[in-house]
Amino acid sequence: MICVKVPATSANCCVGFDTLGMALDWFATFYFEPNPEFVIEGCPDEFKNEDNLVIVGFKKTCDYMKVDMPTLKLKIDTDIPSSRGLGSSSTCIVAGIMAADAWFHGQLNKMEMLKIATEIEGHPDNVAPAIFGQACTSFMDDGDVRMMMIPCQNFKGLAMIPDYPIQTSEARKVLPQTIDYKDAVKQVGYALSFVQCLSSGNELIFPKTCHDFLHEPYRCKLIKEYAEIHDYCKSIDLAMWISGSGSTMLAMSLDEKKLDMLQEWIVKYCGMSYKKVSISTKGAYIEYE
Ligand code: HSE
Repeated sequence: MICVKVPATSANCCVGFDTLGMALDWFATFYFEPNPEFVIEGCPDEFKNEDNLVIVGFKKTCDYMKVDMPTLKLKIDTDIPSSRGLGSSSTCIVAGIMAADAWFHGQLNKMEMLKIATEIEGHPDNVAPAIFGQACTSFMDDGDVRMMMIPCQNFKGLAMIPDYPIQTSEARKVLPQTIDYKDAVKQVGYALSFVQCLSSGNELIFPKTCHDFLHEPYRCKLIKEYAEIHDYCKSIDLAMWISGSGSTMLAMSLDEKKLDMLQEWIVKYCGMSYKKVSISTKGAYIEYE
C-alpha cells in the first residue's frame, strides 16, 4: 500500500496574492492500493467518482508518464476543512500525483509534479508549498512554473476557522480590475519585506508588512469576523491575514505569547474553531505500508 501525506497550505500570505504560499504542519493522509474496481472511501458521496481531485491528479500523472491508469482503492483521512483557504484541494491533487509517481516507481522530479499540479489547480501558490514545504514564491513564465523556496524561521501560527466555506471562484469575483499606482508601489515594499522577515525572523517589522491592496480589502467583507480579529491583532502588533481566499484567517509570530493572547480573545469573543500551527519544513512525502 502507498500512503501519501500532504500538508495544508496558506496561500497569498497577505501581501503575496497568487504568488506566495506556505506549508503548515497539518497533514492529510491518503492510502492507495490495487483493487479490481475503483473504490473511494473517507469523503462525502458526491466526491466518490472520477472527478475526485485525487483521482484527477493520479490520472493526469499517468497520462504524463504515458502509462495506463490502474484500478485502485483510495482511502482519504483528513481533517483539513474544505473551502476554508487551507489548501485542501491541493492536498488531494498533490496526493494523486505523488501516488501515481510512486505506483510506477518514481519517474518524476518535483518540478514536473508542480507543473502537473498547477495545470489542475490553475495557480501554483498552494501546490508549490504542498510539494516542497516551507514558504514558496512562484509565478508563471510563458506556461512554465517558476518557484523559489524561502527557508523560514520558526514562526508559529493560529489558524482561525469560521464555520462557513468560501468558494475561491466567488472570492475572485469581488476583486478589482485595477489598483492605484501608489498602492502598487507600497505592495511591492510590503511583499519584499514580508519575505525577508520570514527568512530572517524579524518579528518587529513582520506585522508592519501585513497591508495588502490586492485582495484583502475586498475579501474581508465576506468574512464577518475579520474586522474585529484584524483590529485585535493590530492592537497587539500581531501579523494576520486571510488564508488563501478564506474563510480561515491566520495569525503568525515568533512570539507565542501573542498567539496565546489571541487564542484567549477568540475563545472569549468569537467562539470560532482554531488550531495552532507552524510552518512545515516538509512538503508532501510517501510512506509505504
Ligand atoms: N491565490 C488564490 C486566491 C488562492 O487567492 O484566489 C486560492 O486558493
